[in-house]
Amino acid sequence: MTKRVFITGAAGFIGFHLARSLALRGDQVLGYDNFNSYYDPELKRDRASNLKGIKIVKGDLCDYPFLDETLLKFKPTHIVNLAAQAGVRYSLENPREYLQSNVDGFFNILEFCREFPDVKLLYASSSSVYGNNTKTPFEESDSINDQASFYGTTKKMNEMMADMYHKLYGISAIGLRFFTVYGEWGRPDMAYFSFTKKIINNEPIEVYGEGELWRDFTYIDDIISGTTAALDLGAGNEIFNLGNNHPHSVNELIDILEQSIGKKAIRINKPLPVGDVHKTYADITKSSRLLGYDPQTSLEMGIPKFISWYRKQMS
Ligand SMILES: NC(=O)c1ccc[n+]([C@@H]2O[C@H](COP(=O)([O-])OP(=O)(O)OC[C@H]3O[C@@H](n4cnc5c(N)ncnc54)[C@H](O)[C@@H]3O)[C@@H](O)[C@H]2O)c1
Repeated sequence: MTKRVFITGAAGFIGFHLARSLALRGDQVLGYDNFNSYYDPELKRDRASNLKGIKIVKGDLCDYPFLDETLLKFKPTHIVNLAAQAGVRYSLENPREYLQSNVDGFFNILEFCREFPDVKLLYASSSSVYGNNTKTPFEESDSINDQASFYGTTKKMNEMMADMYHKLYGISAIGLRFFTVYGEWGRPDMAYFSFTKKIINNEPIEVYGEGELWRDFTYIDDIISGTTAALDLGAGNEIFNLGNNHPHSVNELIDILEQSIGKKAIRINKPLPVGDVHKTYADITKSSRLLGYDPQTSLEMGIPKFISWYRKQMS
């Protein structure tokens, strides 16, 4: 049966790729996004205009009457909630944005699912929920009781809220803990993107913690495969890691960027900001077993793809 998938955050990085990929395989897709200016909304409009034939309704998750009306008209079989205030560092400056979009906004999605419990919900969580956990790789069953940022806290709240709505009202909800997603049409606030811009323009880059921060960089196509498999699983109440299971240090990321751009970076060391964790590293045993998740793209393969997109689109 054709799925009718409502994707929030469809003008965002992951939402754009998911919308395009689901429409290609024949699902009916409707996007929803407030096109906010956390980063240049021009990029969001460019993504939207590249989604030929897929409509994105301009609306806010926090506007429940409008959200509800849009959902009632569309009659989704599935909702993928990707709209959120993302970014660990900005959550230090502006926690209210996170409370509004990530908690209040997500609550509105849950309320719709309470009304229509047959609709299957998939929602973005984050590797940030593992906070200061030092046991690696991170397994879904590990403790998430020691948060490092307010961003991570709001994602942990999402998981708790979804779990409670499942128990109380029988809604179906799958949470995906994404690990540092990168690739074409990516987010300009993320290090790989802003470093690229600066290296190309001969500007210095700020490297935190001597570059010895480790991230499980995961290429967008692998994230879309895992997310699609989770959508098709339709299980009741699950959490999955979607990472690469192969962390790299920021120093290694910069080496790969330099190689791919063909230019040396000017590195300026800075102390580690509050909220940044030392290492993220996904155990993907559960995702492999239940979703057939099998990431294919190493950082050495994915970064050159991003760079060639960047040169075409952004310069
Ligand atoms: N990219 C990553 O590395 C990563 C890692 C972990 C988790 N995530 C999560 O995945 C999801 C998608 O991330 P992304 O990288 O595509 O981010 P993004 O910022 O590119 O996309 C989010 C989109 O949601 C929209 N949005 C934000 N608040 C909204 C609101 N209140 N109402 C309607 N629309 C709103 C924004 O305009 C944006 O287009 C987010 O929930 C994010 O927290 C991303």
